[in-house]
Amino acid sequence: MADLTTTFCGITSPNPFWLASAPPTDKEYNVRRAFEAGWGGAVWKTLGMEGPPIVNVNGPRYGAIWGADRRLLGLNNIELITDRPLEINLEEMTRIKRDFPEHALIASVMVPCEEQAWKDILPRIAETGCDGFELNFGCPHGMAERGMGSAVGQVPEYIEMVARWCKEATDLPVIVKLTPNITNILYPAEAALRGGADAVSLINTINSITSVNLDTMAPEPTIDGKGTHGGYCGPAVKPIALNMVAEIARHPETRGMPISGIGGITTWRDAAEFMALGAGNVQVCTAAMTYGFKIVQEMISGLSQWMDEQGHQSTADFIGSAVPNVTDWQYLNLNHVTKARIDQDACIKCGRCYAACEDTSHQAITMSPDRVFEVQDDECVACNLCVNVCPVENCITMETLTPGMVDARTGKVVEADYGNWTTHPNNPSAAAAE
Ligand SMILES: Cc1cc2nc3c(=O)[nH]c(=O)nc-3n(C[C@H](O)[C@H](O)[C@H](O)COP(=O)(O)O)c2cc1C
Ligand code: SF4
Ligand code: SF4
Repeated sequence: MADLTTTFCGITSPNPFWLASAPPTDKEYNVRRAFEAGWGGAVWKTLGMEGPPIVNVNGPRYGAIWGADRRLLGLNNIELITDRPLEINLEEMTRIKRDFPEHALIASVMVPCEEQAWKDILPRIAETGCDGFELNFGCPHGMAERGMGSAVGQVPEYIEMVARWCKEATDLPVIVKLTPNITNILYPAEAALRGGADAVSLINTINSITSVNLDTMAPEPTIDGKGTHGGYCGPAVKPIALNMVAEIARHPETRGMPISGIGGITTWRDAAEFMALGAGNVQVCTAAMTYGFKIVQEMISGLSQWMDEQGHQSTADFIGSAVPNVTDWQYLNLNHVTKARIDQDACIKCGRCYAACEDTSHQAITMSPDRVFEVQDDECVACNLCVNVCPVENCITMETLTPGMVDARTGKVVEADYGNWTTHPNNPSAAAAE
């Protein structure tokens, strides 16, 4: 059976599944049961400065987006960092590490952007026996207005500076948690690297308003008639997170930097995708909040079964395997031609493909009076919109034309050679370079 033991920037855990810093890791009671359920590690709910405890709202703190079956797709929150006293958190972390020495325990930290504040708190937290630190430069609400969280994460110079202070203050690994509320994820990732961080983790939550109550005319969640933007997470953010992970994994400056992948991970497959794109491990929040701690057991068994099928002995065997296949648009092969194919036996004659192609694509699907839907190759541009709107899985597939065949739409013979935009005759830059 595949060995799921994972070492991430020097921190070993029994599997690559860590709980992200959030309500699931808010207290000893949770983390103890999480580790018993099988989670490989936990990033403790973000710790702040000693002093008067953080104050959360006393009303709803979540907004949500659901699928048609009411499955939770996106979750928005306006919660702040831990509102429990630092001393209590540290005592609980110490007990957890003592009782679960094999599991990874990471302290997430957010204190004001002052050198002494970071240098004072890190050694104190290290006394718990924790395995490393995660610097929370991500929270988009509440703390950002106080000059912390994403207010730091959006300024590369601050990231570099704080990461450097932290590396001076501790010998433990320092992970910088990145905010996605920026234009280019490479800038903060490079800054973390320059500051000496051992790894980055991403993504934290995305600025969002999930809904507006049209009776009260206020954003939700609504507190006494008013709402504010919150942080968005859950399955809906996975594509954004995957792209950001891939960008860091493939960029020459940041390539090779350990990445902890976060964002919408709900199944073992989600986790494997993050890892294939370069994440050394993954962190999960919303899925645990939706389905409970035991969801990790499905993740563990699914991942190990898939690894066995693929012949992967350890996670290191496939981490980053998909990175070489991520490229820029101009390097995609323009000589690769496909056409949509409808499996008439599987078709339930709903007509969605017809409506989509007829109204918004290329009028390439015909509908007969008795509702037989057929693709016209001379119009099909192979956009695959019909595949995506068809309610029957695999009913419409894309067939690759082999070299030598004629594309009925363009009348051109399909070439065997790879040809991209950089050399395409229609590209003025390519023509100018000749
Ligand atoms: C209610 C809630 C509270 C959170 N609190 C924190 C926090 O204190 N520190 C932190 O770094 N991230 C916090 N997060 C962000 C998560 O750690 C994680 O980055 C994000 O939810 C994306 O992962 P997911 O899609 O699996 O939920 C919080 C998320 C939620 C939903
Ligand atoms: S692939 Fe696009 S163009 Fe071709 S039939 Fe489907 S929707 Fe129409
Ligand atoms: S969308 Fe799918 S099931 Fe519906 S008519 Fe088209 S091919 Fe058939």
